[in-house]
Amino acid sequence: MASAQAASAPLAGRRILLGITGSIAAYKAAMLCRLLKTAGAEVRVVMTPLAKQFITPLTMATLSKNPILVEFFNPENGAWNSHVSLGEWADCYLIAPATANTLAKMATGVADNLLLTTYLSARCPVVVAPAMDLDMYAHPATQQNLRTLAGRGVRIVEPAEGELASGLTGKGRMAEPAEIAGFVADLLDEKKKTLAGKRLIVTAGATIEAIDPVRFISNHSSGKMGYAIAGELAARGASVTLVSGRTALPVPPGVDRVDVLSADDMYEATVKAFDEADGAVMCAAVADYTPETVSDTKLKKGDGELFIRLRRTRDIAAELGSRKGNRLLVGFALETNDEEAHAQLKLEKKNFDFIVLNSLRDAGAGFRGDTNKVTLIDRSGREELPLMSKREVAARIADRIEHLFTR
Ligand code: PMT
Repeated sequence: MASAQAASAPLAGRRILLGITGSIAAYKAAMLCRLLKTAGAEVRVVMTPLAKQFITPLTMATLSKNPILVEFFNPENGAWNSHVSLGEWADCYLIAPATANTLAKMATGVADNLLLTTYLSARCPVVVAPAMDLDMYAHPATQQNLRTLAGRGVRIVEPAEGELASGLTGKGRMAEPAEIAGFVADLLDEKKKTLAGKRLIVTAGATIEAIDPVRFISNHSSGKMGYAIAGELAARGASVTLVSGRTALPVPPGVDRVDVLSADDMYEATVKAFDEADGAVMCAAVADYTPETVSDTKLKKGDGELFIRLRRTRDIAAELGSRKGNRLLVGFALETNDEEAHAQLKLEKKNFDFIVLNSLRDAGAGFRGDTNKVTLIDRSGREELPLMSKREVAARIADRIEHLFTR
């Protein structure tokens, strides 16, 4: 968990607009405000009318050292509280706690209070820290709203698991103030934009090779590893084009996604983007073979066996390797046996700068899960990493990429 101490430098002098909605977790907003102020940020607070029932404007005004904004205009003197200028003023709009109701309104563009009109006109990064009961959080409507918001670049500080105000236990409790302050500090930390100006491609997910309008050949890739890499590179300031097979994952903030289906589609999209790029990370699980012909109509079963003739697909990574020049190329190898020997061969054959080896023999590695266990291999040696989250693996890969760009 990030501490306010760690957050101090990046937040000094930064302008944080803190939005508070009507949740029992609003009491934590007082501590959050305090942490942001202690870290040197200037804080203004906007509250929904309901939020005032959970924490008093007086408390928040005292802590933020600024008047609290709730209405579109000041009822005493008629002064207009401009949502546009609030949005322009802020370096970051942090809505904590964010209720299911407010998230739904944000996702659909409802603008019936000052907090929401400010969201619609904000040009700065927007961060939400959801807080609600576990069933409300898990509800498909809330999850869809969060995906919609993430797809539009809103950053989400995941709620924690634990005891909730309802007495139930589960996921929905707002993250702790220090974690939220650390998240915002990371987001605003210019020193961390180490890949600013770099244009990178990431391929992710599985390709789908049609047999007929109903069936296809594919594999188990969920896209999680590639999406984690795309998100990490974008967080470090790179312009990222994510060439993605079909997946249910939200687009990571700041990433430009190109959707593809087949290996041939992925080849076309990736090779095209590579002309303008400084490098690519090839994480997709691409079909090596595809049906030679695709039936226009559903194949009917007969009495005997059915043979489908397959042809080789084009190797995207090998093509990029052949036209690489001084660009950077990172590959993956998913193996089941003789892992290192196969990875070494791919490193050379596809002209990768380094290759990320994961083996299905390692528990917690490879497809679908949230963890991976990888070995990074280049021409000077190997670095075996322990089992870690795909996010952490992505960070280690991004560290190497950064290092290679500064050679
Ligand atoms: O998506 P997840 O569920 O999170 O799973 C992650 C993962 C297991 C898919 C990922 O970690 C991984 O290992 N991706 C590469 C899987 C693979 O198919 O590797 P390969 O050994 O077949 O291919 C070697 C390299 O060539 C890879 O970089 C691959 O993207 C690339 N390739 C392969 C064939 C092809 N036609 N074009 C390619 O670009």
